[in-house]
Amino acid sequence: MSQTSRIELGPVEQFTGRPLSAAMVGVVRVVVSWTDGQFGVLAARCNHAGGPLADGRLDGEYIVCPWHNWKYHCRTGAGEPGYESDAVPRYDVMVSDGRLYASSAPVTRRTNAHHEPHPLARPVIREPGPIRVVGISTTNMDVAYPRFSASDLLLEEALTQAAVLGAETRVIKLAKLSFRACEGYYSKSAHACTWPCSITQMDSEDQMERVYEHLVHWGDVVLLSTPIRWGSASSLYFRMAERLNCVQNQVTIANRVLIRNKVAGFIIVGGQDNVQGVAGQLLGFFAELGFHFPPFPYIAHSRGWSAEDMERNMVMVQESEELREGARALAVRALDHAHLLLDHDHAPHATARGGRKAHRLAKRDMEG
Ligand code: FES
Repeated sequence: MSQTSRIELGPVEQFTGRPLSAAMVGVVRVVVSWTDGQFGVLAARCNHAGGPLADGRLDGEYIVCPWHNWKYHCRTGAGEPGYESDAVPRYDVMVSDGRLYASSAPVTRRTNAHHEPHPLARPVIREPGPIRVVGISTTNMDVAYPRFSASDLLLEEALTQAAVLGAETRVIKLAKLSFRACEGYYSKSAHACTWPCSITQMDSEDQMERVYEHLVHWGDVVLLSTPIRWGSASSLYFRMAERLNCVQNQVTIANRVLIRNKVAGFIIVGGQDNVQGVAGQLLGFFAELGFHFPPFPYIAHSRGWSAEDMERNMVMVQESEELREGARALAVRALDHAHLLLDHDHAPHATARGGRKAHRLAKRDMEG
């Protein structure tokens, strides 16, 4: 390395106290590794989604990205075995008079291996065909020995009515899906929360993909049913809602609205009250996702505080023609609204930032 082409990073002791340190080569952030008595200097931006490698950890000779665990050899910059061509730029490094130096420019280039895009990442285009209605049951039960569910009964009634009106219908029962709870990638950085969801991209066994597919790509109408559990929607609803953060977050970080011209309606049934509280929560969240609502967007039934006779509650719902009629009418309103939106589909408006959740986020200037 010639004297003129090198940049001083600092005294050697500054980098020998820990396995990974951050430094700057001009305006470029780099990660300095120190392991087995050797230094390595790499560009600090991860190939995947821009994660800050200097905040990662060392696993043997590999730097592990703190966002989704991609790995790079700490001295060559090559990706982990099998993904060597996913490489980050490497800098020459030398020690002179107790000072650490790096070349003023990288000596290798960033290279990206070809990764097949996840199927969910395809453009959101409504395919021609009848209105498509997806029912989402959020009640939990032992699926091997299912019990009667009043919220499921009314959801089935609504879906049957939608089919009678010519809609294509499908149902997703969250209790039958195996999916992980959100692991808080957004809490590392807004940009660490990706679309498709980071978990979905890393874990092919995770079945939340079915919900994403039907909400973002397939459905025109979502009818969601929930029991009331301690005054709130079901725990499975909240597990799903947390995983839908990545859909809402695309608006914040990429100005990309994934849900357009879609309608949501709700069925809320409980042996405990707080129907309006549950409805408000559901409406608020689905509005943030971009859904529209028909007039009177939810139906509900609650047995109330003073009558915890759930056997009687079940019979009441099973025998109530009025509640079934309500479920059918909800389906009619939702389909009417979907027709209204699809028949008058305009070019989408841009989403103005002012007053929206969070201001526009700029990617940190980590490396060119
Ligand atoms: S693994 Fe580095 S940003 Fe995803």
